Amino acid sequence: MIKIAVLVSGGGTNLQALMDAENPFGRIELVIASRGGVHALERARSAGIPTRVVSRKKLGDAFAGKMLETLGEFRIGLVALAGYLTILPPEVVGAYAGRIVNIHPALLPSFGGKGFYGLKVHEAALARGVKVTGATVHLVTEEPDGGPILAQKAVPVLPGDTPQKLSERVMEQAEWELLPREVRKLCRNLEWSKWKA
Ligand code: GRF
Repeated sequence: MIKIAVLVSGGGTNLQALMDAENPFGRIELVIASRGGVHALERARSAGIPTRVVSRKKLGDAFAGKMLETLGEFRIGLVALAGYLTILPPEVVGAYAGRIVNIHPALLPSFGGKGFYGLKVHEAALARGVKVTGATVHLVTEEPDGGPILAQKAVPVLPGDTPQKLSERVMEQAEWELLPREVRKLCRNLEWSKWKA
């Protein structure tokens, strides 16, 4: 059974989708928030999942060490970034190479990379006038939103869409389906690779 840590920064709807999904290969053992007071922490607490706040702003250079210490304390084997806004430093990405997944609310490489997060992604998509957008699940490397793509799902942009309306459609129709599915697949593959001769 793979121990999963979910990293959050906001409302936690992607965390909720992971909590609600069936996953015979993995179990959410820890939720780490980039700052206190975010609703995602309430979601974890109400489900009895241990929580921690590890703030890059507060910890500065000690952030990487504290993150690795916390993940190690819970024997974490897979890290899922769910609406997480901190860029993970190379020491953390390196320690969990191939075992950190992120959900991005666009069809990467479009509207991805530095500065593209949350509603800014949908504002840019609407400003460009794309007729289709969507979500991407990818492995995390040192390049923001640059890692190998695991899954994508297209979502229509409709006349009169606001960034908020488009964000909700992308979450409902793509993010909340893709992230649980890809986390489950990665847990299965990690589990099986443990038993491979
Ligand atoms: C949303 O913009 C979502 O598209 C992105 O992170 C933001 C908040 O997600 N992945 P959540 O509700 O905190 O999971």
